[in-house]
Amino acid sequence: MRFLSLPIVCVCLPLIIIQASPTESTSFLFNGFHAKNISLSGIAEVDGRLVRLTNTSSRLFGRAFYPYPIRIKDASTNAVSSFSSIFVFCITPLLAPTLGGHGMAFVMSPSLDSTGIFPSQYLGMLNASDNGNSSNHVFAVEFDTVQDLEFEDINDNHVGINLNSMFSTNSTAAGYWSPSQNASQNASKTPINLKSGDVIQAWIDYDGHRQQLNVSIATIDQTRPQIPLLSVKLNLSEVLKENTYVGFSGSTGVIAGTHRVLSWSFNSNGVAKSLDLSKLPSVVRKVPTVATIQFKVLVSIAVVVSFLILTSLVGLLLYKRSQREIVESWELEFGLHRYSYKDLVLATRKFHEKELLGVGGFGRVYRGVLPKSGFEIAVKRLSRESDQGEREFIAEMASTGRLRHRNLVQLLGWSRRKGELLLVYDYMQNGSLDKLLFGKPSTVLRWEQRRKVVKGIAAGMLYLHEGWEQQILHRDIKASNVLLDADMNAKLGDFGLARLYEHGQNPHTTRVVGTLGYLAPEFARTGKATTATDVYSFGALLLEVVTGRRPIEHRGGNAEDFLLVEGVWELYTNGRLLEAVDKKLDGLFNVEEVEKVLILGLLCSHPDPLARPAMRQVVQILSNEAPLPPLPPYHVNLSSQRPHTDDKEFRSYSSSSAKSWSTLDASTHLSAR
Ligand SMILES: *[C@@H]1O[C@H](CO)[C@@H](O)[C@H](O)[C@H]1NC(C)=O
Ligand SMILES: *[C@@H]1O[C@H](CO)[C@@H](O)[C@H](O)[C@H]1NC(C)=O
Ligand SMILES: *[C@@H]1O[C@H](CO)[C@@H](O)[C@H](O)[C@H]1NC(C)=O
Ligand SMILES: *[C@@H]1O[C@H](CO)[C@@H](O)[C@H](O)[C@H]1NC(C)=O
Ligand SMILES: *[C@@H]1O[C@H](CO)[C@@H](O)[C@H](O)[C@H]1NC(C)=O
Ligand SMILES: *[C@@H]1O[C@H](CO)[C@@H](O)[C@H](O)[C@H]1NC(C)=O
Ligand SMILES: *[C@@H]1O[C@H](CO)[C@@H](O)[C@H](O)[C@H]1NC(C)=O
Ligand SMILES: *[C@@H]1O[C@H](CO)[C@@H](O)[C@H](O)[C@H]1NC(C)=O
Ligand SMILES: *[C@@H]1O[C@H](CO)[C@@H](O)[C@H](O)[C@H]1NC(C)=O
Repeated sequence: MRFLSLPIVCVCLPLIIIQASPTESTSFLFNGFHAKNISLSGIAEVDGRLVRLTNTSSRLFGRAFYPYPIRIKDASTNAVSSFSSIFVFCITPLLAPTLGGHGMAFVMSPSLDSTGIFPSQYLGMLNASDNGNSSNHVFAVEFDTVQDLEFEDINDNHVGINLNSMFSTNSTAAGYWSPSQNASQNASKTPINLKSGDVIQAWIDYDGHRQQLNVSIATIDQTRPQIPLLSVKLNLSEVLKENTYVGFSGSTGVIAGTHRVLSWSFNSNGVAKSLDLSKLPSVVRKVPTVATIQFKVLVSIAVVVSFLILTSLVGLLLYKRSQREIVESWELEFGLHRYSYKDLVLATRKFHEKELLGVGGFGRVYRGVLPKSGFEIAVKRLSRESDQGEREFIAEMASTGRLRHRNLVQLLGWSRRKGELLLVYDYMQNGSLDKLLFGKPSTVLRWEQRRKVVKGIAAGMLYLHEGWEQQILHRDIKASNVLLDADMNAKLGDFGLARLYEHGQNPHTTRVVGTLGYLAPEFARTGKATTATDVYSFGALLLEVVTGRRPIEHRGGNAEDFLLVEGVWELYTNGRLLEAVDKKLDGLFNVEEVEKVLILGLLCSHPDPLARPAMRQVVQILSNEAPLPPLPPYHVNLSSQRPHTDDKEFRSYSSSSAKSWSTLDASTHLSAR
């Protein structure tokens, strides 16, 4: 039986050399790992002889550290010793070689404790609250495979040096330098794709006297590059504590990948021993160790049985595919996680009314609990009129799904069945902002919380406008699109959707997207969305957050609708601005701040688009880094602002229509739909 001689990898005992010299230096060499030799946390595991930091499950981290603290700094001289490390790692993406996440790092940290550590862009190293804090005493060399603009990453395939922070002090595209063979030529850099699944060797050397750190990488078939990839002047005395733990961390995000460490050598004071590459554990192995006759028989039976099972599975799959979830080849290109329709049906209890979180312009949103992980999600069931343009739709979802910012609701994945499209998002415990502002909310947001919401949304919008390769207009900024997580952090939802609907499949029906009361007058006129129209809606949102009133209130009968922007303008002109503040705050607010936000709201919602600030300026004003510019007078050219359509929805801005603020009773406000 020929197929019995399966590639059973030689399983040698891990070769470990531990030395403890009298000068307290630590040196070790793992040509393969054993669970007893390494301290694991998160989902890290010793798999065979290698350490697997993560698997392909989303948004988890894994850490593997040498279990004992290492003396790295001399307490009396405050000098960090010259340490060095060599290791071999391998990053295998879940999908195509271009899509993997999030990356891994070589880490020195004062603690083995991993509580509070974040996955995704934090690489299992730090979290959002301790990021950048000099009391972390964390030094890392990151091998990052996702470009996080939040941390100013240069690309999605780089090596960086991180001191207490996810922002790299120095980083460079992954690769290695080859010296010139020829004096008239410069050295050349050959790129390395970190997430290609290739086995990669890395060298990290720190010279404590010259305070220089060198980092090099090369694929396993190459020798050590003569010119380091990164060579940086660095005083680690300021960062590291006397004793440190050393090891690796890795994490997955929405896009996942497996991060493995195959072998590792370290010397806390001197040159690390070279690895024995002939003893490297094999990455693709899953074969048990005892090769007995019975085992071989078992294997052959298993092979036959699995072949049979596979064939029937494939048959069943093909049948099922033809039945419902049709996966087209192009869908796989986008790399966004595709959930099984069945799981989502189970998660939402068959889209039970009790799980309904809200109904938006694009469909109904349900809460769900994923069957296996127990992870809470929000599922948006899109109402779509036709299957046309679906490819573009999913492509757009996938590209916006790669946007990552703490003030954007994270798209986790999607699912499709027949004409139905489901989008899966992070679940936001505190629901949407409108529910906490208008009418009789269950909890009244305090001023500090409102200020945090406003700053968060401004940061999220700045990211959409300026932080991504291409500018993204939100087009539907409004309180019901602002969601609050368990800690009342504000996140913008529904970005990217509006554009798709606007450029609907049918070019003859330009469906104007946006919500009444948030629409800039020039948008109503021309139908053209710009960053300035987004800023206008943001201005309306600012006013809502301070006043606790909707941007437009229908008063029934023949009474003219109340427009919040106009109402606040009127108060401002009459020097009664503070009367606009939400009575529910009970006067508990900082007057200066409130005035600033109100005037900023008026500035952003100025009828003249040129008078409105850019989001960057808004963010600076809100964080007191820039002064509030003077508010230009409220000039409206009535004829030009009136929409061309006879659509009654678009009200013109007539200066006489503003009703006195006090005539309104907050409890009788009707919602604007
Ligand atoms: C590493 O693991 C091996 C195998 O169990 C064991 O013999 C050795 O003592 C361990 N070394 C340390 C330092 O824990
Ligand atoms: C990844 O590891 C975790 C923890 O060990 C486990 O619960 C999960 O099922 C694994 N995922 C995959 C895709 O193997
Ligand atoms: C962040 O990590 C620190 C420890 O490094 C922990 O004290 C803190 O609670 C964590 N923060 C969050 C939000 O988990
Ligand atoms: C840094 O961390 C320390 C200890 O956790 C904390 O007391 C301090 O407030 C933090 N500093 C900043 C700027 O967050
Ligand atoms: C590393 O970063 C520092 C400042 O962050 C800079 O001064 C230095 O030139 C950088 N070095 C290299 C080699 O890029
Ligand atoms: C060096 O490179 C230059 C330009 O590529 C070439 O013209 C020259 O012949 C090379 N010389 C040698 C000795 O290889
Ligand atoms: C080599 O590098 C120098 C400095 O970066 C540059 O001025 C020169 O043109 C380069 N020469 C070649 C052959 O690329
Ligand atoms: C770092 O690289 C530079 C340039 O190749 C070299 O001169 C220096 O000795 C290296 N330092 C260490 C600690 O390897
Ligand atoms: C490095 O940092 C330490 C601690 O801040 C300081 O004592 C030392 O003078 C620094 N060394 C140099 C060369 O800057």
